[in-house]
Amino acid sequence: MFILAIDTSCDDTCISIIKIKNQKSSLAIARRDERREQSSLRLAKSKNTNFEILSNVVSSQIKIHAKYGGIVPYLAKREHERNLPIILNKSLRKAGFINSKSKIRNSKQIPNSKFKIQNINLIAVTVGPGLEPCLWQGVNFAKKLAEDFKKSIVPVNHLEAHLLANWLTPINSNTKLFPAVGLIVSGGHTELILIKDIGKYKLLGETRDDAAGECLDKIARILGLGYPGGPSIAQQAEQWKVKILNPKFQINSKSKINLPRPMINQKNYDFSFSGLKTAVLYEFKNRNLELGKQKNYIQEICYEVQQAVIDVLISKTIRAAREYKVKTIMLGGGVAANKELRKQFNLQLKINNLQINFFVPPSKFCTDNAAMVGVAGYFGWLEGKQKSPKKLEANANLQI
Ligand code: KG4
Ligand code: ZN
Repeated sequence: MFILAIDTSCDDTCISIIKIKNQKSSLAIARRDERREQSSLRLAKSKNTNFEILSNVVSSQIKIHAKYGGIVPYLAKREHERNLPIILNKSLRKAGFINSKSKIRNSKQIPNSKFKIQNINLIAVTVGPGLEPCLWQGVNFAKKLAEDFKKSIVPVNHLEAHLLANWLTPINSNTKLFPAVGLIVSGGHTELILIKDIGKYKLLGETRDDAAGECLDKIARILGLGYPGGPSIAQQAEQWKVKILNPKFQINSKSKINLPRPMINQKNYDFSFSGLKTAVLYEFKNRNLELGKQKNYIQEICYEVQQAVIDVLISKTIRAAREYKVKTIMLGGGVAANKELRKQFNLQLKINNLQINFFVPPSKFCTDNAAMVGVAGYFGWLEGKQKSPKKLEANANLQI
């Protein structure tokens, strides 16, 4: 089975083609389990499926939005419109579905090319949450393809897809996965989710203001660093870490700049990151440093910012994992690409002697991509979530 997946929820135009590898055996096991025990149906499906990524094209708009320090929705929409046919062409070609010479500029031209869309069994598309004008670009494009080529279409929740990105790498079928706690940390969301099974989610807590990634992006802007903020703050923080570890620099390992860890001690699973951003704003302004003397300071404050975010995320997630006695912690979303976050999560689980599986997708599947949408589309299809293209709508505020 082949799935063509599309995501235009934010500023990346993403199209991927994935192949479901051992679908027959997984369905057979699922049916057997269904007869035996209804509740294990989804579990059987999830464990025995392997996904092969034939293509995963992400067209980034970073250069366009960088000069504004954040995403400009109408520019993002315009770029998606322009890019979608080009990215479709690229994705099909990479997957070996069209020969290298044929070009597709829009879906009307497709029947005349040597295009083998007949081999695609299903179209999956992100319908929300995200930036409304951007979401509609992907949804309308998917609708047109589905109508022209009489394909089924499955709507996908972008947040669920971020969690299901963990299935893009094979999962040992003997591993007990659920219940699990999922931490989604992206540019638009910070949510802790109790996962009872694939498709069965309960929101435990979320940010009351800025998302973790949004906070990093805004702080990077205050400090005059590049967009997106997460990777540029991580890069500065790494340089400071090297200095801390190097005796030559004689730096006290405990950072001199102290920033708040908002809501870390509150007995709920909500987050708040806007206070951290404000603290950085005042700290930076009050120092009033000359331009030439800022290098060390920027590295140090980035180190502290990153650590503040990591401390809050890990502390709340581990507390939820303990309370709900979960078997697995899984991360998803752009901030989960952060190396220190990944390292320190592993370390804290070890230090606390917690026998919990820790899953985080490879970095390129943490940030926005359509391969994860393909996985979510597949599980959605198994549950009968396909929709008539006419009824498909974008929903910017879709919840998990
Ligand atoms: O999931 P994503 O690609 O898009 C959304 O759905 O929002 O997440 C983008 C966010 C941005 O805020 C970006 O700064 C952050 O993820 N990010 C990172 C890293 N890579 C991307 N944050 C920390 N460390 C990184 N390595
Ligand atoms: Zn995302």
